[in-house]
Amino acid sequence: MKTTEIRITVREFENIDELPESERALLMEARRISEFAYAPYSGFHVGAAVLLGNGKITTGNNQENSAYPSGLCAERVALFYANANYPDSEVKMIAISAAKNGILVQDPVKPCGGCRQSLAEAETRFNTPMRIILDGKDSIIVLNGVESLLPLSFSKKDLDTPGPSKGGE
Ligand code: THU
Repeated sequence: MKTTEIRITVREFENIDELPESERALLMEARRISEFAYAPYSGFHVGAAVLLGNGKITTGNNQENSAYPSGLCAERVALFYANANYPDSEVKMIAISAAKNGILVQDPVKPCGGCRQSLAEAETRFNTPMRIILDGKDSIIVLNGVESLLPLSFSKKDLDTPGPSKGGE
C-alpha cells in the first residue's frame, strides 16, 4: 500500500476588480447572463461564459423544467453551444456566477458533478486545460484546469485501456 497526495492550487480574489482584464470581462458576461436564467423552481440563477481559442465568447444559463431532470445547468448550456457552433475551437476559460433571489451567492459557486465531467471532456477533446473562474460575494476563485475540480476523472483514455483478458488473468 502506498499513499499519495493530490494537490490543487486555488487562486483567491477578494472582488472582481482584482481580476486581470480578460477574466473580469468574462465574469461580467457570466453575471449578466445569469439574470436571464429560467429557474422558476429553484430560484437559483446561474450564468456561464466560455472564452474560446478563436476569441468568441458563448454564454448560457440554467434552464429548468417541471420534469426536473429535463433541465440543464448553465455551464453545459454555454459549453454545448460553443461546441455546437465552433467545433474546432478549444475552450480557454469559463466563468460561472450564481445568484439567489437576485443576490450573488456568498461562497464561490461550485459546478455540479455532471458539469465537471462535461468540462473535463472539453479539455480532453482539445488537449488544452481551461481556466475556471467561480464567482462569489466573499471571494472569487480561479483554477487552472478541470483536474482541480475533478481529480481521478474518467476519460477517453479509460475507454481505450485494455481490460483483463477473457480468462480473467
Ligand atoms: N445549477 C447550475 O446551473 N450550475 C451549477 O453549477 C449548479 C447548479 C443549476 C441547476 C438548477 O437549475 C439550479 O442551479 C439549482 O440546482
